Amino acid sequence: MSNNMVADHAIRPVENDTIFTISAKASEAVLKYGAENVINSSMGVLLEDNGDFVAFKSVYSYLKDLDNPKIAAYASIEGDSDFLQAIKKACFKNHMPNAYIEAVATPGGSGAIHHAIFNYTNIGDSILTSSLYWDPYNTMCVENSRKLDTYNMFNGNGGLDIDAFKEKFDYHLNKQKRLLTIFNTPAHNPTGYSISDEEWDKIINILKQGASNKENKIIVLVDVAYIDFCDEKFDRRAFMEKFAGLDENILILFAFSASKGYTMYGLRNGALLCVTSKEEIAKEFFYTNLHSNRGTWSNGTKGAMRVLTDIINDEKVGNPFYEEREHYVKLLRKRADVFLEKSREVGLELYPYKDGFFVCIPCKNPLEACEKLMKNNVFAIPLQTGLRFAVCAVSEDKCMIAPKKIKEVLAECDE
Ligand SMILES: Cc1ncc(COP(=O)(O)O)c(C=O)c1O
Repeated sequence: MSNNMVADHAIRPVENDTIFTISAKASEAVLKYGAENVINSSMGVLLEDNGDFVAFKSVYSYLKDLDNPKIAAYASIEGDSDFLQAIKKACFKNHMPNAYIEAVATPGGSGAIHHAIFNYTNIGDSILTSSLYWDPYNTMCVENSRKLDTYNMFNGNGGLDIDAFKEKFDYHLNKQKRLLTIFNTPAHNPTGYSISDEEWDKIINILKQGASNKENKIIVLVDVAYIDFCDEKFDRRAFMEKFAGLDENILILFAFSASKGYTMYGLRNGALLCVTSKEEIAKEFFYTNLHSNRGTWSNGTKGAMRVLTDIINDEKVGNPFYEEREHYVKLLRKRADVFLEKSREVGLELYPYKDGFFVCIPCKNPLEACEKLMKNNVFAIPLQTGLRFAVCAVSEDKCMIAPKKIKEVLAECDE
């Protein structure tokens, strides 16, 4: 007989989260050696060059000026109606697909991913994503009695390994007749990869081939958590229009998060959106996810919905916000460019980076490399096949010196 008080399905490893553990060690090092001597690239949040947390002033001054009931009251279970309209604009901007689109508010992108897993797969199903992925996908699958399977992420040419995707996609679809695939793009965590428009065409062809068997149900979740930190000049939303006119047994979902793009991490604001060619499927989406909201966390954060809605709908609120965000988009780009340039100079190999908060360094012994780097006061996150370096949290000066330090440590560990 087991001594556990928790039920069998709830038995979990007794261990702390890796990221928070490494981050705590970085804080100790700062106290011991001084902030100027520590490179803390562990946390996936945007920090100023001096290490201060970035919380957009335009967001928080507007929030704090709201009348109390606009913050304190319950929001509608599905999300306030003007928020649900605003979030569609925030997600698709000028690339709204010509299709039926519905949205339901969720506490951050995590809530949206939860609902996609829970409502669009059966217990025991496998869910597909790339071999490098945000670890909570697996946690959420386990939590909901599902399994996560992966395909090799990159081919030899620095692009998405579409053949590897197709092989696993066909395998699971044949077996299950229903398959949820998660793409975290643009600005993938942990690599910073953004799927190109040409790659999307290939992916959509594979989805269409699968959909020719009408028994199959194909669901794609696009996790766009970092999309608003892509430079506008790259037009990273263009692929969204490709989801118009798809077969009725292909459903596209978007997990939208206000955590990074609006610095609302702790306010828990986001949405799950659907794109479908069939009105009934959109209606089903709306009521199913409304019920899931009621059955999990009830409603979302009213004040956060108000702020995002007014940013989208009212220029007087929106303009200062966009100006402020643009400053940080540029700051992030600069840090990433410097890291990439210095990596090239010292011969440090990186997974293909396009946009976003993280760069990722392939490595054979990530745990050993992480330990050794910590001894050199560089704090990065060990992954299955690499080290994640959060350029979002490290000043340009430190992004300039980090590649050489990492290269030296890897030379010792990977030889
Ligand atoms: C890849 C990815 N998806 C989704 C999220 C969801 O974040 P939140 O639930 O705070 O919106 C995160 C946050 O770190 C993330 O890295």
